[in-house]
Amino acid sequence: MNDLEMYREQLAMCDDRIIDALEERNSIIEKIMAYKERYGLTILQPGQEEKQERRRQERLKGNQYQREIEDVFLRIIKNSKRIQARHLFDYNIVLIGFMGAGKTTISDYLSTMFAMEVVEMDQVISEREGMSIPDIFATYGEEYFRNKETQLLMEMQGHKNVVISCGGGAALRKENVAEMKKNGRVVLLTASPETIYERVKDSTDRPVLNGNNNVGYITDLMEKRREKYEAAADVVIRTDGKTVLQICEELITKLTEEA
Ligand code: S3P
Repeated sequence: MNDLEMYREQLAMCDDRIIDALEERNSIIEKIMAYKERYGLTILQPGQEEKQERRRQERLKGNQYQREIEDVFLRIIKNSKRIQARHLFDYNIVLIGFMGAGKTTISDYLSTMFAMEVVEMDQVISEREGMSIPDIFATYGEEYFRNKETQLLMEMQGHKNVVISCGGGAALRKENVAEMKKNGRVVLLTASPETIYERVKDSTDRPVLNGNNNVGYITDLMEKRREKYEAAADVVIRTDGKTVLQICEELITKLTEEA
């Protein structure tokens, strides 16, 4: 065997060790998940993630391949998060609720914590149509927009483990709710009209509130929609006065209990 062949052999053995280490790491991730579930501990512990990162940085300080190794770790962590997400939710998480209830904020956080793909319905529709939501309403009317929502929800049947952040009106159509439930659990986020108003008062991209952006109007519209929202929901979470982390923890607990 010449040197080159020997190096190649060493490299292959090194890869075998990496595979074994990754397999071991992933099975530890599963054990941690099972432990947290068994003892009712919070699933999301962002502080722990930071602690581990600091430890890694310390270990890598001065390492000639620091950047390359850190790059690999980013992927390892991302995949650990995916494993956790798959373990917890074998379905899509569909967030519904009034404008300003926190659907976008919660979906962003879930995507950070679990590396889950997010489908922000308004954004996807707006990108496909090449115009803003207010422009779609003004050009084609609300019915057209609602049809686009139905179509997108139907497309989501082909996906799993995705967070779908719905527009505030998406759960009002019966056929939409049927689509959501085919392979998803529906989470209704709620907030008081006062909280909603505080969150949306400066918004210019919500045609439904055009010229009516006040607590009275929001209260009336919420009341009109309430029954349909509640009928669609598998779980309901009040968001008033809670942190994003608290809301996500509650979401995980309720979804996993519900399963
Ligand atoms: C709507 C809510 C909006 C958007 C559209 C209509 C509604 O989404 O889909 O303006 O009817 O409640 P957000 O809830 O994300 O603001």
